[in-house]
Amino acid sequence: MPLAKDLDSYLAANRAGSREELFDFLRIPSVSARSEHNADTARAADWVATSLRMIGLEATIHPTKGHPIVVGEWRKAPPGAQTVLIYGHYDVQPAEPLDLWESPPFEPTIREGKIFARGSVDDKGQLYLHIKALQAHLAARGKLPVNVIVLAEGEEEVGSENLEAFIEANKTLLKCDAVVISDSAMFAPGLPSILSSLRGIAYFQIDVQGPSGDLHSGMYGGAIMNPAMALARILATMHDADGHITIPGFYDKVRDWGDVARQQVKSLPFKDETFRHETGSPELGGEKGYTTLERVWMRPTCEVNGLLSGYTGEGAKTVLPAKAMAKVSCRLVPDQTPDEIEAVMRAHVERVAPKGVTVTVRHLHGGRPWRADLGGPLFDAARRALAAAFDREPVITGEGGSIPVVGDFQRILKAPVLLVGFGLPGENAHAPNEWMSEDNYHRGTSAMAALWDELARSSS
Ligand code: BES
Ligand code: MN
Ligand code: MN
Repeated sequence: MPLAKDLDSYLAANRAGSREELFDFLRIPSVSARSEHNADTARAADWVATSLRMIGLEATIHPTKGHPIVVGEWRKAPPGAQTVLIYGHYDVQPAEPLDLWESPPFEPTIREGKIFARGSVDDKGQLYLHIKALQAHLAARGKLPVNVIVLAEGEEEVGSENLEAFIEANKTLLKCDAVVISDSAMFAPGLPSILSSLRGIAYFQIDVQGPSGDLHSGMYGGAIMNPAMALARILATMHDADGHITIPGFYDKVRDWGDVARQQVKSLPFKDETFRHETGSPELGGEKGYTTLERVWMRPTCEVNGLLSGYTGEGAKTVLPAKAMAKVSCRLVPDQTPDEIEAVMRAHVERVAPKGVTVTVRHLHGGRPWRADLGGPLFDAARRALAAAFDREPVITGEGGSIPVVGDFQRILKAPVLLVGFGLPGENAHAPNEWMSEDNYHRGTSAMAALWDELARSSS
């Protein structure tokens, strides 16, 4: 069924306004990782709460040890109606390096149909399109066909540290029949997508301490263990030449996806060369025996995210560094858990750490992997709503990124989670020049407005 006429006309008449409001949201530099932006992050939470109130929801702001959680509620649907929970995040990644942005990250601008700004696609645009979809119902009809809870957090980009406890403590408030999240991308332009999996994550910092201070590399070099070399040796033990991870026990819990899932992945329109080109990398590479999409969606990884040691300025300086540090993240797949991976990582680093330095491993944050059961009325409703908005049947895709709370929702609220994202390949999430397609922003709004009608129809 196409989107109902009343909703469609409301959305068509309000496109420019909707975009301008999103721009206001995007101007707030709610960088959760940076304490100098704490006031901005709090302002973004207020902004979300205010916009929920303006469309007719009740909204509360819940302080946490970190950034606040915003909850919006509308519970006036007819008896027997479903309750849905919409989740999104109002925090964004740091915008650095700033000099690589073609327009300033917090001054949204449109070029060639793309809304450029930090957070445009991840996740402010995708959170706000849900608010606009709810507004279409409330403004055009004065009601929604389902009860709605909106949960917006400000710590997704730093690991959602306080969210799990909040959900545990507020099970009654958050009780729902379905969770819907738009914080991912479509597989290709014009091709709506429903996500069937996310990887989990276990993020570590490895510190290697040698002498108490930097030393002259001529006077001491050769007689003292070099922390940078020690760290390099530790990191080099994590993979073999075929790209398999060699940390004992690492693969113990990895579940095989089976031929059906593998065939489904193979059937998607995907070209290695396009993927390579998008990245600007000279060549693709990874674990032997797997295709690119299998490597990104179905296989776990262990990656260096950052390295720090010694002299890195201009020219040469002869120094034996006192310490070295690496940020290492493992992406996890079912049924790996962050705690088990932490245990095997610690044991491995302890075993391979060279003598003569002190090595410490810190687990900074973790999130479980997730796979969906793509059946039932929620997914059928989503298929119909997406097909109506994009004039094309959606595909089922996987994803290599992580949204730590998804597993928690399923486990604590026992509700199915639907992930429908409206980003696109090449959107530069977490990178300079992040963008969201303006067309996807509006079609996404229509699709989510249609979803609530479809869901109400299928469950009544
Ligand atoms: N929206 C992303 C997750 C994502 C990325 C979903 C790509 C689908 C495709 C989310 O904001 C994110 O960046 N998550 C972090 C999680 C981490 C900080 C715990 C990630 O995946 O690195
Ligand atoms: Mn996100
Ligand atoms: Mn992100």
